[in-house]
Amino acid sequence: MSNTTAQSEFEAAFHKVAERHECVWVFISMLLLSLLLIGTLFFVVLDYGVVVKTDGYNTNPATVGTTAPFADTALVRTGPNAYSVHMLAHCWAWTPSPLHVPQGAAITFYVTSADVLHGFQVPGTTINVTAVPGITGSVTYTFAHAGTYNIICNEYCGIGHQSMIGRIIVDPERRT
Ligand code: CUA
Repeated sequence: MSNTTAQSEFEAAFHKVAERHECVWVFISMLLLSLLLIGTLFFVVLDYGVVVKTDGYNTNPATVGTTAPFADTALVRTGPNAYSVHMLAHCWAWTPSPLHVPQGAAITFYVTSADVLHGFQVPGTTINVTAVPGITGSVTYTFAHAGTYNIICNEYCGIGHQSMIGRIIVDPERRT
């Protein structure tokens, strides 16, 4: 019987209208949270601006492998001693691979994924970009030394993850 009384007292307290000081504290907390939200948005916009258009930056994982620009596996000359290439990650390989690049030139890699998260890393360099389906990331690197470099995947992406290795071959600078 005492159990039933305790329960009904609890229920009564639960349904009681909040006291004035409780209302005041809830109001103050909500006000502080709102100010925090407004302040955060203010500084984000201040730092990054308002992004209203991301076309061209986004990719469609379903078609990215068969449409431009990621279907084109060629190294493209973008300026004096500068090149770019679109690097596509998919389970479980890199395209294009092997990739030939000239020594001493600035190579910009645009990286995305056709399926799940992969990690585009070239050991011995500062190249390390996450390949995110739907989004293009980029990194620019100049290979100072000729030779063969491995591309490894540094995000676990399934059963073939550890064998997801590509090659970048840096051809020696021609001196004439
Ligand atoms: Cu691709 Cu791990």
